[in-house]
Amino acid sequence: MTQRLEGKVAIVTGASRGIGEAIAVAMAQEGAKVVLAARKLEALQAVAERLGDAALAVPCHTGKEEDVQALMRATLDRFGHVDILVNNAATNPYFGPMMNVEWGAWDKTFEVNLKGYFSCARAVAKHLLDRKAPGSLVNVTSVLGQMAAPLQGVYGMTKAAVISMTQTLAAELGPRGIRVNAIAPGLVETRFASALTSNAEISKMVIDRTALKRFAQPDDIAGAAVFLASDESRYVTGQTLAVDGGWTIT
Ligand SMILES: NC(=O)c1ccc[n+]([C@@H]2O[C@H](COP(=O)([O-])OP(=O)(O)OC[C@H]3O[C@@H](n4cnc5c(N)ncnc54)[C@H](OP(=O)(O)O)[C@@H]3O)[C@@H](O)[C@H]2O)c1
Repeated sequence: MTQRLEGKVAIVTGASRGIGEAIAVAMAQEGAKVVLAARKLEALQAVAERLGDAALAVPCHTGKEEDVQALMRATLDRFGHVDILVNNAATNPYFGPMMNVEWGAWDKTFEVNLKGYFSCARAVAKHLLDRKAPGSLVNVTSVLGQMAAPLQGVYGMTKAAVISMTQTLAAELGPRGIRVNAIAPGLVETRFASALTSNAEISKMVIDRTALKRFAQPDDIAGAAVFLASDESRYVTGQTLAVDGGWTIT
């Protein structure tokens, strides 16, 4: 079996379920040590148990800088270094017309989806710069960051900003050997998207537009994250890879 991430340490946020869990499992299968981060420890531990010594579960609210610093300390205490970050933990508390959004939902969305991503990216990048080591940062954004997102407009804004952050960090950190890329999933069957995947009208609308004629499963996204984290993508940076079954080509 190929071990494309042998010797690497990866932090994956939002790793207790859904896409983050699938990415963490795929990275462990490729030989990486994985640090699983999310708010609820119990769910993280269930994933970590399946991965054995390769995994460490750390409770962390990624929107809180002190939690992110503690996540870095726990990672370095256990594994000594970190090479890969997958920014994946996100939230979408408001579904409805943008005109009606309340500031509480706005702030929450920006805190987790944007400040959280930047805070984790900066913490890992600082560590890599201090070590003079190369590294790979992978940001899970969304196709909704690349088009109008009716009823999910604030979420879409944060995902669009993640693409901008990916490009700028890639430009600034590239000369030091740190690559930064993004993955833009289409509709993936997870708890996060259950309101959409269980809605017959919305499901039909998305599947009609999707060339491969189905939703994604979390595993469908994991291979792209492994590729972007590994040396196979060594000349790829600043890019957003759509993993959307062809939704955005139509
Ligand atoms: N599902 C889709 O259709 C879809 C499409 C495009 C993009 N995406 C993106 O894919 C990523 C993962 O989504 P998913 O569908 O896999 O969601 P999910 O199944 O709901 O999982 C979300 C994960 O994030 C964690 N999380 C939420 N808020 C957090 C916070 N403040 N701090 C730390 N961890 C937090 C959750 O654990 P806790 O609750 O314990 O914190 C959980 O582990 C997100 O960035 C989402 O925007 C999803």
